[in-house]
Amino acid sequence: MNQQLQTSTVNTDHIRIFDTSLRDGEQSPGFTMNGPQKIAFAHALADLGVDVIEAGFPNSSPADFHAVHSIARDVRNASIAALARCHAGDIEACARALDGAAAPRIHTFISTSPLHRQFKLNMSREQVIEHAIMGVELARKHVDDVEFSAEDAFRTERDFLVEIFNAAIAAGATTLNVPDTVGYATPNEIRSLFEYLRANVAGAEGVVFSAHCHNDLGLAVANSLAAIEGGARQVECTINGIGERAGNAALEELVMALKVRGGWYNGSTRIHTPKLLDTSRLLSRITGIQVQRNKAIVGLNAFAHESGIHQHGMLKNRDTYEIMRPQDVGWPDSQLVLGRHSGRAAVADRLRALGYVLEDAQLDQVIAAAKALTQTQHVVSDTDLLRLVAGDHGDTGWRIATMSLIDEGQHTRAQVELSDPDNHRVMKEARGDGPIAALFAALARATGVDFELESYEVHSMGIGRDARGEANLSARIGGETYTGQGTSRDVLEASAIAWLDVANRLLRSYAMQRVAALA
Ligand code: KIV
Ligand code: ZN
Repeated sequence: MNQQLQTSTVNTDHIRIFDTSLRDGEQSPGFTMNGPQKIAFAHALADLGVDVIEAGFPNSSPADFHAVHSIARDVRNASIAALARCHAGDIEACARALDGAAAPRIHTFISTSPLHRQFKLNMSREQVIEHAIMGVELARKHVDDVEFSAEDAFRTERDFLVEIFNAAIAAGATTLNVPDTVGYATPNEIRSLFEYLRANVAGAEGVVFSAHCHNDLGLAVANSLAAIEGGARQVECTINGIGERAGNAALEELVMALKVRGGWYNGSTRIHTPKLLDTSRLLSRITGIQVQRNKAIVGLNAFAHESGIHQHGMLKNRDTYEIMRPQDVGWPDSQLVLGRHSGRAAVADRLRALGYVLEDAQLDQVIAAAKALTQTQHVVSDTDLLRLVAGDHGDTGWRIATMSLIDEGQHTRAQVELSDPDNHRVMKEARGDGPIAALFAALARATGVDFELESYEVHSMGIGRDARGEANLSARIGGETYTGQGTSRDVLEASAIAWLDVANRLLRSYAMQRVAALA
């Protein structure tokens, strides 16, 4: 190995986690946050243990300036970075916004690829280098910690990248960031680029090389890991992978890859991984955007097993189908989901955990009833199982007879007519800010049941005449998660059915508790 690399400061095994959820993430459609939300999220990132929080781009708006300023003053246990083009105005704004920070960093960037030089900047190579030097030198007048980024670095000529990085180091940059701005790279290429830069940039041993990968080809995490193999010691990422277009590398995936495959990467982070799930959920609550069910680490299915074969394996030894413990990333436990694909062993095991060891014949009956239930609902919860053991097959409950929604300008009025578990009709109405708020309020009035939603998603299934809306929602009540599902041609009706699914489960569980209390 090259002697220079062996002795370099970038050869330590600490991988710096630079979170840019509040900058690259926040600037993408649907993820805008207000000032107090940004401050709350910055605290969560610091508690999670990120090394650097990129808090915003102060010169882009007064609101961004104030958010960065408040975070710089409030959040003491992480380095706070602010973004600037290589423009004096941007850099001065960063310096003012970061005033009072415990560990301020100015992150200044300029595009370097031929495409960006010609069409975005209309600058020659020499002019780009001049701007870079000006930006880094000015930033260094204000702070000791200066990161320089060559935007679209991956599509930049290698000799020019070396030239501009040499100049940035000479001007005082302490971190050199190599963005794959358009998510075009593949892992082998990224690894080789980092190896090349570390071997050819003058003074490489005294700076930290950083990777900043976008996810246009779904390779952001793989590319960031390859950059680490090539010698990067900082990775830029976001919670839930939010960011421009297809997003940035997902922090939770990167961190867990480094932890689970520590032997391979020989690099570790300071992230308190049991906080990953809460941090992901905080971001979803703030932005109103949930991660997909099958999202690695933080998706609802990440530690859920439904197929009989997998459940059987899990019951014998969880290592058969799990490479990390759910608790390591903040989940209370794995979930053996009882659904259409579950087997006898899983149902028997779940019942045992609930305190029931059934005779074979009774177990057969419960399994048959559970399978029947999966015709109308996706999963069979503990509450469902308890009902089935008690002989209640779940065909009673509140049902929709009619519903209507009237737009009243500022509000929507919803009217629902339901049939109750004894087949009596109940009609109620309520107003809300929008159709869903009004509908759920009317349902709550009619049933006398109310709960706060934890998640609510609507998907369309099929196209044309077959199109259907599917609504999924969940509520956390008394430590248990109740999920509901509804399908209909009309998404509002699907939502109402899903809401009633939760309400019916809740009512049955109360009934079960009453029976248990009387016994
Ligand atoms: O993707 C990118 O190139 C960036 C830079 C500003 C670092 O976000
Ligand atoms: Zn970016």
